[in-house]
Amino acid sequence: MRKPFIAGNWKMNNTRAEARELVTALKPLVASVDGVEIAVAPTFTCLQDVAELLKGSNIELSSQNISYAAKGAYTGEISADMLKDVGCSHAIIGHSERRQYFGETDESVSKRVRAALDNGIVPIVCIGESLDEREAGKTFDVVLGQLVNGLSSVKREESATVVIAYEPVWAIGTGKTATPEQAQEVHAAIRAKLAELFGQDNADAIRLQYGGSVKASNARELLGQKDIDGALVGGASLKADDFAAIIKAAVA
Ligand code: PGA
Repeated sequence: MRKPFIAGNWKMNNTRAEARELVTALKPLVASVDGVEIAVAPTFTCLQDVAELLKGSNIELSSQNISYAAKGAYTGEISADMLKDVGCSHAIIGHSERRQYFGETDESVSKRVRAALDNGIVPIVCIGESLDEREAGKTFDVVLGQLVNGLSSVKREESATVVIAYEPVWAIGTGKTATPEQAQEVHAAIRAKLAELFGQDNADAIRLQYGGSVKASNARELLGQKDIDGALVGGASLKADDFAAIIKAAVA
């Protein structure tokens, strides 16, 4: 049985004071939630503050990116070691905004995934098609291509720890959610491909999050789909009440 995993991607929002306020409000709302893995992904500048507040709580800390290099002359990058040092257990990798605005490719995703796994950080690997690609009937080609290439550095025996976030680009921040059926269809294809890559047992253990305008009002139906094991939540993770309601919708 896969444990549902709800992660909040704060993107480029919140000063340190705002981050502290948000996490302080969130903690008591979800303290008694059982059977759901929870994480938040603040900006790099807030990680330290949030890490302090999360100590002893049931909320884990994720970064929004991770360098593929261990250290040295990589201006603007943050290494796995540094993320571990500040308390991150997870790293979001290859988010569509990174692909779209910052030149992230399947190849760099694959290298970042390798750096995360080598350092005991769980990668949350984001994949998803654009509206043009969906309308051109290329959804499966694009999504499965990103999956295979992005996971090219993953060995079979470590694959079960990886988390995949399927986020159709046209549903991110737009208020347009994939229908539960649309999302399930892609999730099922992802799991079938994972079985080809890593064997059925590993594929059955890998959590597949859905992302793209997940809200309290649509979370239960999405999370009720057979192959949707969680959510990567952007906008709605910036309000403690909204995020807590999504987390509670994941309780069996
Ligand atoms: P959204 O973002 O929930 O605001 O659509 C999701 C994401 O990009 O991870």
